[in-house]
Amino acid sequence: TVLVVDFGAQYAQLIARRVREARVYSEIVPSTMPVDEILAKKPAAIILSGGPSSVYAEGAPRLDREIFEAGVPVFGMCYGFQLMAETLGGTVDNTGAREYGRTPLQVSKSGSTLFEGTPDEQSVWMSHGDACSAAPEGFTVTASTDVVPVAAFENDEKKLYGVQYHPEVMHSTHGQQVLEHFLYRGAGLSPEWTTGNVIEEQVEAIRAQVGTKRAICGLSGGVDSAVAAALVQKAIGSQLTCVYVDHGLMRKGETEQVEKDFVAATGVQLKVVDAEERFLTALKGVSDPEEKRKIIGREFIRVFEQAQAEIVAEAPDDQPVEFLVQGTLYPDVVESGGGTGTANIKSHHNVGGLPEDLEFKLIEPLRKLFKDEVRMVGQELGLPDEIVQRQPFPGPGLGIRIVGEVTKERLDLLREADAIAREELTAAGLDRDIWQCPVVLLADVRSVGVQGDGRTYGHPIVLRPVSSEDAMTADWSRLPYDVLAKISTRITNEVRDVNRVVLDVTSKPPGTIEWE
Ligand code: XMP
Repeated sequence: TVLVVDFGAQYAQLIARRVREARVYSEIVPSTMPVDEILAKKPAAIILSGGPSSVYAEGAPRLDREIFEAGVPVFGMCYGFQLMAETLGGTVDNTGAREYGRTPLQVSKSGSTLFEGTPDEQSVWMSHGDACSAAPEGFTVTASTDVVPVAAFENDEKKLYGVQYHPEVMHSTHGQQVLEHFLYRGAGLSPEWTTGNVIEEQVEAIRAQVGTKRAICGLSGGVDSAVAAALVQKAIGSQLTCVYVDHGLMRKGETEQVEKDFVAATGVQLKVVDAEERFLTALKGVSDPEEKRKIIGREFIRVFEQAQAEIVAEAPDDQPVEFLVQGTLYPDVVESGGGTGTANIKSHHNVGGLPEDLEFKLIEPLRKLFKDEVRMVGQELGLPDEIVQRQPFPGPGLGIRIVGEVTKERLDLLREADAIAREELTAAGLDRDIWQCPVVLLADVRSVGVQGDGRTYGHPIVLRPVSSEDAMTADWSRLPYDVLAKISTRITNEVRDVNRVVLDVTSKPPGTIEWE
């Protein structure tokens, strides 16, 4: 395992993903973890991430010198680089020489482990105030910029490496190559980790955990719960029952997809609960977004608990239903302070927000995986593309894509508009280019239009296509005009009561991805 020491500011997750893209398994540990504890995990290599601090700032995270002396290969990036420099006797000063963003880097490759085979000048992503002016003794300086004399160094004998920039971001043109040089050449690792190993490992672990007992799993129609369920199904077969709550807020064809495609691909036992009426009744007269979310969450839990009680009552043998499967992903684990051992993983991520006091033991077979890896696992498990490549869709469904009160009529209308948008985006081959494209009905807004010979007074539909890496930030997608035109024409022609289609051109922040 390669351990990525997290100095904050979201870089660590990206680094861990890049290491795994190089097919080497990696995990994240917080920088507050004592060095002897880090070393006790017997890492094959250590990467020190960037972070928001200055090494001179009061309370800046530090690392015991021992980490560099244990014979474990270490790669410092940005803050990690400066920390390495400073700890080992180099000079880091606050020169006022800042660099942010894309920066040209001059590389002196002769004998360099990290830079071999990369260009003499390459573009890298910088983000720092302090700068290293002298490398520690025994280190060779391998790169510089106009502003920073020491932008990379290495001590090949001691297997210590560092770069001032962020090789993990895609703007650093040779970043992945440099990272791989560290992993393969510096640390002597081989690209062996695959999602196939994950499946085998998990299947065995789940069998051991569950024994002859039973498990249930809530399916949301999303990728994570589907892949988690498929994995557990592979391990324990008919000891697993899945529950799918149809709250009537799903998009066109979604429930059928779960009922037919998912079951066909996995052979899972599925209990579908038709709860449309219940949800619509509970949502009657409500237009406040937070209130809608609360109601949907609450009703969801009730329906789920009822289904679960039925499954327990109907169990064909007297084996207890003791386990609940959840599609918790690695970023959730890291963000909730997990990975450090004892943190009790809560339920912020699960289907519709299940209550914390559910009396189940959790099975979380994806808790070491990133989203793209979950997709690969799903593919290997034979799930259809329509499920595995599915874009994110919020638990409260179309309920938070109708601005105004949620009614069956409005839902049907939005379902039509959404289906058209999805169809055209898919036909244009844009599914992989966009993160998701919420289609929103402004049910309380009307505008005047003209259709045929008559005046109309209808509702607008908003298209909200975004690109994003993690939904924390997003930009609006520059979709081709002809695709937008086609969607607009079709929606206004085919969907009753809609006479206008508008495009949301707001990034996040300030706008969120969803409208509510
Ligand atoms: P926002 O609107 O906060 O959305 O920018 C970020 C991402 O989260 C999705 N989303 C949800 N997913 N339950 C979910 O499972 C929810 O309540 C929920 N609200 C928003 C949204 O679609 C986007 O991908």
